[in-house]
Amino acid sequence: MPDLERWGNAQVKAFVYGRGHRNILTEEETRGQFDDLGEFKEYVAGKVQERRAEPQDDMISFLCDVTYEALGRKLTDLEVNGIVYAMVIGGLETTQYAIAEQAQILCEHPELFARLKENPDDIRQFTEEAMRLRAPTQGLSTRMTKHDEVFQGVEVPAGSLLHLRYAAANVDPEEFECPYDFDMSRKAVTRHMTFSQGPRVCPGATISRLEQTIAWQRLLERVDSMAYGEGNTFLHQPGIMLGTLSLDLTFTKSA
Ligand code: HEM
Repeated sequence: MPDLERWGNAQVKAFVYGRGHRNILTEEETRGQFDDLGEFKEYVAGKVQERRAEPQDDMISFLCDVTYEALGRKLTDLEVNGIVYAMVIGGLETTQYAIAEQAQILCEHPELFARLKENPDDIRQFTEEAMRLRAPTQGLSTRMTKHDEVFQGVEVPAGSLLHLRYAAANVDPEEFECPYDFDMSRKAVTRHMTFSQGPRVCPGATISRLEQTIAWQRLLERVDSMAYGEGNTFLHQPGIMLGTLSLDLTFTKSA
């Protein structure tokens, strides 16, 4: 896990720790980043070899076995490596940020903490409403418009590049009543845009939802309360994601 954390951080290093609009890293930072990414590539290459020789019930074995339909062939080692890379960059930071934002909501609403501890079945609604209001992916992918379009009175010609702001859609008052209220009783609480929609929808949405639910189930079983610690600056990374650089929490252990 510590290795995975280091490699995951290396993938997003420029976005989180880079300076200025172009996210510039120092030469030394860039060298460190490339060393970490090189290690990660070697690690995955080793796993791919292992799984090709002896498949198991896991994602890398599946990727080694699956046929790339458009080309009618299996994936190369490098392609499997690329997908694993995308899964780490797509899955690690996002889910961490989701849980970190949820922790802050619970620190600010101790009554909600007590409610979830009492009724763990509500955790799923809690994580969904939290993802709507505090989307880790504030904005992400780009799309090119195929034809002229008008978005809320703004004319956008065909061929425009759009940067999608999922977090803005999540607080659209035409879609969500009192959009800035945290309300777990909303109908269709999963109807937010945090994982995007359509053919490019996040392929990790289901596992991330599961991870978030399990994280809170386990934690709530073990602690009676949670509060902010002393050292919080609440600095967030400057990029397209909503994520604290660090979060200091204290817990009271359950009897
Ligand atoms: C709270 C957690 C997560 C959030 C908020 C999130 C959000 C997103 C969003 C908004 C996209 C862009 C979709 C688009 O372009 O329309 C995306 C793509 C992607 N996500 Fe996630 N994601 C999360 C967790 C995960 C996990 C756990 C994985 C993998 C295990 C993952 C893997 C990916 C990959 C590989 C893509 C690229 C898909 C493509 O371009 O076709 N994500 N995610």
